Amino acid sequence: MENPIEKFQSWWNKAISNSPLQQKSAICISTINEQGFPSGRFVDLKSVDENGFVFCTYLDSAKGKHIQHNPKVAMTIWWDHVGYQVRVIGEAQAVSDAEAIEFWKTRKRSAQLTTTAFQQSQPLKELEELQTRMQEVSDQFINREVPKPSTWGGYRIQPVSIEFLTFAENRLHLRELFNKKENAWIKSLLQP
Ligand SMILES: Cc1cc2nc3c(=O)[nH]c(=O)nc-3n(C[C@H](O)[C@H](O)[C@H](O)COP(=O)(O)O)c2cc1C
Repeated sequence: MENPIEKFQSWWNKAISNSPLQQKSAICISTINEQGFPSGRFVDLKSVDENGFVFCTYLDSAKGKHIQHNPKVAMTIWWDHVGYQVRVIGEAQAVSDAEAIEFWKTRKRSAQLTTTAFQQSQPLKELEELQTRMQEVSDQFINREVPKPSTWGGYRIQPVSIEFLTFAENRLHLRELFNKKENAWIKSLLQP
């Protein structure tokens, strides 16, 4: 039986090798807000394996609060240059702090400083605050490692459904749907 996680890995590899994409790991994550509205934004996909799809963010951001309230999320990708769309739905679960620290270590120092300087999704009083806060954290962590803030971590989406669409100019798209039933993946096709 075809494995959708392996299929995803193969599509992602194809999308990022010799790729014109600047942001090769961008995926759209949709959460449900407190009023029941869906809310989508792009994040970077950090890893994917049998346990799910991982992205990193502030746990107390708007999306983090949505997930605490309702862990059901969607992940959507469109890779234009290869003509692939992927749609995933599943439940997001915070990764362990130890795992988050490993992801933190892979980030550039500039990104670590930015993350430390701000509280994502909170209002910014004025534009100048961007520079003053960055200067403050640069001074604070001069000549030493930037530790992971406790409010930053990762979410793993455990998929229940994954749809792969191969785009066709004449709209005769190939749509392959995988649904998880009792730990097995069931494949079906959908009309375009
Ligand atoms: C290409 C791209 C990649 C991004 N990657 C991330 C990311 O990995 N983590 C993150 O928290 N925000 C990332 N952002 C910013 C988010 O889109 C978003 O503005 C931020 O997470 C706040 O969302 P929220 O207020 O809904 O929580 C990225 C934006 C773009 C355009």
